[in-house]
Amino acid sequence: MIPRYLVDIDIQSLPVVDTDVIVIGAGIAGLFTALRSSKEQSVVMITKKSLLDSNTRYAQGGIAAVISADDSPQYHLQDTIVAGAGLCDHSAVDVLVHEGPEGVENLIKLGTQFDVENGEYALTQEGAHSQRRILHANGDATGFEIVRALSEKAIANSNIDVWDNHFVIDLVTDQGICYGAIVQKSNGERLFLRGKATVLCSGGSGQLYRYTTNPEVATADGVAMAYRAGANVRDMEFIQFHPTSLCYPGAPRFLISEAVRGEGAYLRNIKGERFMGKYHEQLELAPRDVVARAIVSEMEESKSTFVYIDITHETEEKIKHRFPTIYKYCLDYGLDLTTDWIPVAPAMHYMMGGVETDLNGETNISRLFACGEVSSTGVHGANRLASNSLSEAIVFGRRIVDRIALLSSLTKVPNTSFIGDRHVHAIQPVVERRLKLQKIMVRYAGLKRNREGLQKGLDELMRQVTIFNTELTEREEFEFANMLTCALLITESALFREESRGGHYREDFPNRDDEHWSKHTVLNRETGQFEEWITNV
Ligand code: SIN
Repeated sequence: MIPRYLVDIDIQSLPVVDTDVIVIGAGIAGLFTALRSSKEQSVVMITKKSLLDSNTRYAQGGIAAVISADDSPQYHLQDTIVAGAGLCDHSAVDVLVHEGPEGVENLIKLGTQFDVENGEYALTQEGAHSQRRILHANGDATGFEIVRALSEKAIANSNIDVWDNHFVIDLVTDQGICYGAIVQKSNGERLFLRGKATVLCSGGSGQLYRYTTNPEVATADGVAMAYRAGANVRDMEFIQFHPTSLCYPGAPRFLISEAVRGEGAYLRNIKGERFMGKYHEQLELAPRDVVARAIVSEMEESKSTFVYIDITHETEEKIKHRFPTIYKYCLDYGLDLTTDWIPVAPAMHYMMGGVETDLNGETNISRLFACGEVSSTGVHGANRLASNSLSEAIVFGRRIVDRIALLSSLTKVPNTSFIGDRHVHAIQPVVERRLKLQKIMVRYAGLKRNREGLQKGLDELMRQVTIFNTELTEREEFEFANMLTCALLITESALFREESRGGHYREDFPNRDDEHWSKHTVLNRETGQFEEWITNV
């Protein structure tokens, strides 16, 4: 049903461009991997818009690493594993917590300026962290500062060629080896970009849901193209909904950082009652899945579309200093964080699953790597601990670069061609299809799921698969095909897992069932679905 290539193609007939390392995506994973690779290799970094369009840019809370003398890698490991609800790979978490601090040092050397208080790095706390270990920049603009620093360095680097406004249609593989990618330029011309290594850093899938904190570019391209190429895609049922995105008429679902609760904010239902005490002993700082579902329960009970976040008991000075971006954004909509309770509701935020990798970021396809949200390294398990994603990207980015340094160049142009039976027209405008898909996912594969709904969602998605039999030419069409692919993977995996755990909650199976489900769900286009049992518990 899902074809190997999205377009009819004869690789031998395309112009060939050579580089050492192909980096697909320009968030923290892409920028960091490109910069580190560039010491010894030539790099082409491809972004479908510009260097400033990535999920990283919008990261507010920060980056988790063991910096404080009161903290230890063991505490960070423990917190990550508890949040991951039994599905973390302990060896991957071990790598994260031990190599994270050095990764942060590297970011600082590359020019990132984290906030400092009394001569020390300022550290905040977020949900399910037992210690203050989150570094931040410009209060609540951490991602923006990282992207600023790294993209300045990338643009100035003569070994990095940045291709913006280019779209990667598909990965080129032959006999289990990745040779590079088919790239479409903004004028529609296509080429074969060949590299000795290809690194997917293409981010997540927030746009699959009607309500998301993710930017418009988060359309699951990397997962979908890797799946088409035969990569193992793992744990797709686990979706993290951020509990607190702005929910106000006319305003986008802007993120209200977990750090706001970390600095003391309360959640209140529309009657003004603080309610988290009914749900978890860690109150507003309980794991995200718990807080998000508690909010939905309160919304359902009061027949409301939002709850409030309230930090008005903190001083005006502190609020404006710590959260300048959120303060200003809310004020633009007439909401004053220092005096008003802010209406919020959960929104899709992060994809825990992705393209399965080993501890060096390599996938089951030789020379194909995945880094950042597109990857499934085993760090996040069923539920990501807040602010672990930026650290994961730099830690595994470094390992990927070390691995690539051992590879020799590729000289072959694979004799790959794919001619399907594709019709010329797309019956329904792609923008309508995209909206429909987003509604299906919210309704049937959202925070609360059940068999009947998931089956209905799957049936409705299946009605869209005719897109794969049409001739696609525009970026938006490729994106829709990728979103549909990923939506099918999520829905199938969610239907399969008959228990509730982390970012997957089934109303018909509301309990965690370790006896039958201490395992990952893996999907492979060529070999079908299989399971990987957890061995570290
Ligand atoms: C936030 O600032 O709440 C988001 C941090 C994260 O998702 O890691």
